[in-house]
Amino acid sequence: MDLLQDIIRNAKQLKKTIVLPEGDADRTLKAADVVLNTGIAKIILIGDPKIITKKVAEFGLAGIQRAEIINPIDHPKRDELKKLLYDIRKGKGLTMEHADELVNQPLYLGPLLIKAGYADGEVSGAEHATGDVLRPAFQIVKTAPNSSVVSGAFIMIVDDPTYGEDGIMVFADCAVNPNPTAKQLAEIAVATAETAKKIAKIEPKVAMLSFSTMGSGKHEDVDKVIEATKLAKEMAPDLLIDGEMQADAAIVESIGRKKAPNSPVAGIANVLVFPTLDAGNIGYKLVQRLAGAQAVGPILQGMAAPINDLSRGCSVDDIVNLIAITANQAKTKA
Ligand code: ACO
Repeated sequence: MDLLQDIIRNAKQLKKTIVLPEGDADRTLKAADVVLNTGIAKIILIGDPKIITKKVAEFGLAGIQRAEIINPIDHPKRDELKKLLYDIRKGKGLTMEHADELVNQPLYLGPLLIKAGYADGEVSGAEHATGDVLRPAFQIVKTAPNSSVVSGAFIMIVDDPTYGEDGIMVFADCAVNPNPTAKQLAEIAVATAETAKKIAKIEPKVAMLSFSTMGSGKHEDVDKVIEATKLAKEMAPDLLIDGEMQADAAIVESIGRKKAPNSPVAGIANVLVFPTLDAGNIGYKLVQRLAGAQAVGPILQGMAAPINDLSRGCSVDDIVNLIAITANQAKTKA
């Protein structure tokens, strides 16, 4: 796919350092080997060096010799990072004893390496649930200066070029916030438009999705989307955004013209913002499976530094692609 090739080409020029907390797991090691052999990024592997050495020999992963390997329970940066963790979380009641335990955990160590400036981004989640990856990331790296909520976007690529921008669309939030408020939904819409521009390289046309189009349904859930649309327009006056609208009105030109004739995005939207995580997560998986779409992500947006969470069903290629995307995100934070 051209877009992914572009993302990979960009990543190679950026030479960012990406930390992989699941560094002794098979798929992560194989992906790290590809990334190092092709120069997509520099890699820090967190994991047991004995397991890594054994697997490198077993799978023939010569590229891994260029990775920095950090044994989470015994490494020279341990005291510095323990102190950093304590300083960040002592206001929330973290004791030095608890920091001493947490710093041994790879999912805490990854964000700490970013916070301390040793890495530019993290990719994790092939072996862990989303919540376990996100919680330490939120606690340590936190949100970007103008952001109060982190959300997860997918770049969806379908074969039919009449949808989105030549078949490319961006969906959110598909990964993080079960029931965002109107203000959070507005922020998610603006952040997703940025992701569409910077990572998917498309000019965003944002539809705020609902089961109602322009007042056809009355319900407090519809009111939330109407309010979010208003707030998003205030936050980003130049952004092409409209709602509330149903999915067919958003992406099918003839239906958009009929149901929302005055809308600048109806029928031609390429960024779809879902009202809840139920809708977004179910929606992207249905499009992926029923329409055979390629789903790239989730790409976390709104963090102070890029940390991305893999699906546990991911392939080695998925990990390589997400490392390249993470490197691209790190560039835009610089
Ligand atoms: N954005 C920014 N910060 C956040 C967010 C957010 N969306 N959510 C929580 N935080 C912060 C909190 O402010 C808190 O910070 P603090 O400790 O410094 O005050 C910290 O994160 C922990 O907050 P909690 O409320 O204790 O976190 P919680 O246990 O609720 O976990 C989590 C947050 C993990 C993201 C939760 O909302 C969750 O599990 N979401 C669903 C994830 C999921 O299962 N997704 C579907 C699968 S993904 C897929 O299919 C692609």
